[in-house]
Amino acid sequence: MTNGYLFREYIGAQFTGVQFSDVPVNTGVSFHFILAFAIDYLASQQSKPTPTNGVFKPFWDTGNLTPAAMAAAKAAHPNLSIMVSLGGDTVQNTGVNATYAPTSVDSWVANAVSSLSAMINQYGLDGVDVDYEHFGTDVDAFVEGIGRLLTQLKARFPNIRTSVAPYDLPVNQKYYQALWRKYSGVIDYVNFQFYGYGANTIVQYYVQFYDEQARNYPGSGGTKLLASFKTGRASCRGSSSFRRIALR
Ligand SMILES: *[C@@H]1O[C@H](CO)[C@@H](O)[C@H](O)[C@H]1NC(C)=O
Ligand SMILES: *[C@@H]1O[C@H](CO)[C@@H](O)[C@H](O)[C@H]1NC(C)=O
Repeated sequence: MTNGYLFREYIGAQFTGVQFSDVPVNTGVSFHFILAFAIDYLASQQSKPTPTNGVFKPFWDTGNLTPAAMAAAKAAHPNLSIMVSLGGDTVQNTGVNATYAPTSVDSWVANAVSSLSAMINQYGLDGVDVDYEHFGTDVDAFVEGIGRLLTQLKARFPNIRTSVAPYDLPVNQKYYQALWRKYSGVIDYVNFQFYGYGANTIVQYYVQFYDEQARNYPGSGGTKLLASFKTGRASCRGSSSFRRIALR
């Protein structure tokens, strides 16, 4: 980020055939596509998806958003970075929650570091966003698993950008605020899901919500806490490929 302006867009969760080239990339900002999502589940035609204890696979629209398409988009736009988001609401089209469900924190972290390192290398990714919305462990096991994962990825890939994507429900805030308290040093942005507030959110309320979340994530206000909105497309259970995150 050079002039402080950042625009981020989640892409690929809805399998609408969206291509990187469908979204105009403004040259005056740092622009991030966030692939939605990589999930540590195994999908199968025969049975329900099952958790893989940190072995992440692409669950975004890999038919369109390929390594070649990513390389071409980045060659065309020097200000473009491409991230991957972890988790999301459900495992693609199955109704199964994409739950944070490690067998143990140590084994989950080891699997996640190795599978995501391979993915970062294969796709030339520039960062990782954490968007788990369902939790199969207590808060501590989430904080340690995610905190150590981001710490180790940043050690291996010093230039990656990291973010987390909480929203305003007590059960979600409890996990992400605890993560922030201990590991904010390895989290570059809070992609707060401000579009989760009601359609009656006038500017005055929006500013109040922003200030409230800046207090909940101390030190994030202004540069790390990103304002966000959603465009007209019907959201697919909060994992829309048209979710938009912008920084003032
Ligand atoms: C866009 O990228 C170019 C080349 O990397 C860089 O010089 C410029 O500062 C960037 N601008 C912004 C707004 O990030
Ligand atoms: C998915 O998670 C939500 C809470 O986040 C829960 O209410 C729902 O029952 C879960 N669904 C399944 C199929 O487990």
